[in-house]
Amino acid sequence: MGKVKLLRCVSCGREYLPEDVHYTCPHCGDLLGTLDVIYDYESICQELTRESLSSTEDFSIWRYLPILPVEREDYIQPLHTGWTPLSRFARLETELKLKRLWVKDDTRNPTASLKDRASSVAIAKALEQGAEVVTAASSGNAGCSMAAFAACAGIRSYIFVPATAPRAKLAQLIVFGANVLLVKGTYDQAFELCLKASKRWGWYSRNTAYNPYLGEGKKTVALEIAEQLGWKVPDKVFVPVGDGCIISGVWKGFFDLQKLGLIEGLPSLIGVQAEGSAPLVHAFEEGKTLVEPIIPHTMADSISVGNPRDQLKALRAVRDTGGRFISVSDDQIRTAMKLLAKSTGIFAEPAGATALAGLARAIGEGWVDPAEEIVILVTGSGLKDIEALNYKIEEEAILVEPCIEAVERALTR
Ligand SMILES: Cc1ncc(COP(=O)(O)O)c(C=O)c1O
Ligand SMILES: [Zn+2]
Repeated sequence: MGKVKLLRCVSCGREYLPEDVHYTCPHCGDLLGTLDVIYDYESICQELTRESLSSTEDFSIWRYLPILPVEREDYIQPLHTGWTPLSRFARLETELKLKRLWVKDDTRNPTASLKDRASSVAIAKALEQGAEVVTAASSGNAGCSMAAFAACAGIRSYIFVPATAPRAKLAQLIVFGANVLLVKGTYDQAFELCLKASKRWGWYSRNTAYNPYLGEGKKTVALEIAEQLGWKVPDKVFVPVGDGCIISGVWKGFFDLQKLGLIEGLPSLIGVQAEGSAPLVHAFEEGKTLVEPIIPHTMADSISVGNPRDQLKALRAVRDTGGRFISVSDDQIRTAMKLLAKSTGIFAEPAGATALAGLARAIGEGWVDPAEEIVILVTGSGLKDIEALNYKIEEEAILVEPCIEAVERALTR
């Protein structure tokens, strides 16, 4: 038997052996039948301890291999992922009047988004299953990262993205050699299409929420936060939410650590959505267990999702930890991008700055205590979407002739 003890359906609680089911619960279907990966915690906690980790020299997600679902280490790709910085920035803390604000900078992953954590696990699982082709539907980042890991492993990838995806993300897909399917429709439509294609042609699916092992990759961000904080759990973690997989992964990371006895208690998870793409906020506020799908409208392309695929787990993550879902406007997201860049030096894409926008709103509404220990996730780089701020560079910058007199004239103007 491998490390994974069983896969448990989030809706009906049925349990499966990992070799019996690859993706979702056959009784509950693809959207409702998402599976939790359950380990043999009792034996893992003998092996994975605070002491064992303090002497581990692997500073990547693979330092947590005993609690990751990968059996064959030789399938792990050398593209470095994780162990991203968790830092405090005095200027940002002062600006927000907070005492302890930590920024988890996941722009530092190989393809510049948190999604690399999931893709690095996905490629190892695909290879374990003998896959020759992998596929993913994506608003951009997940596809880019899957394409990169497929390139690294030398297998083919088919990536379905909305034709409106930012051009930098499309360029990334192409340079990694992915077969790119530009879908003339929404991300939700691209997702459905990709699922059909993977079923028809038997491709290994890296589709979010559908493949249970992806959340295991994403949970490493929570494992790192806990370890980087010296095993002290923060009070609140702010997470940008589209499909809800990242926030579910964050919950799972803290859940696993608690099961292993490495931490006590879970932080409150605050899910932040864009106002025009906030079905989880509505479901949360109305006390529902399922969302009412919508047609999303937001400039934050990575969280522009009408029917969140990981909705059950995302709602559980927030309810279980006494957190909440909130929304922010596109303008608040743009303001947060600028605040983050100008006070920390981190350039985030719109979704990547959405957690900060949510934190700013929470502070404004007075439900964050300035003494609390807060973490915000910065999930993706602004270099992937330079149009988002819509800068007119010629107006923002100063055009000069290449001589010092011209510079002097420009500075004194
Ligand atoms: C940069 C970034 N932030 C946040 C998200 C939202 O993650 P999820 O869809 O798992 O909620 C994504 C998803 O694509 C993303 O790429
Ligand atoms: Zn089920």
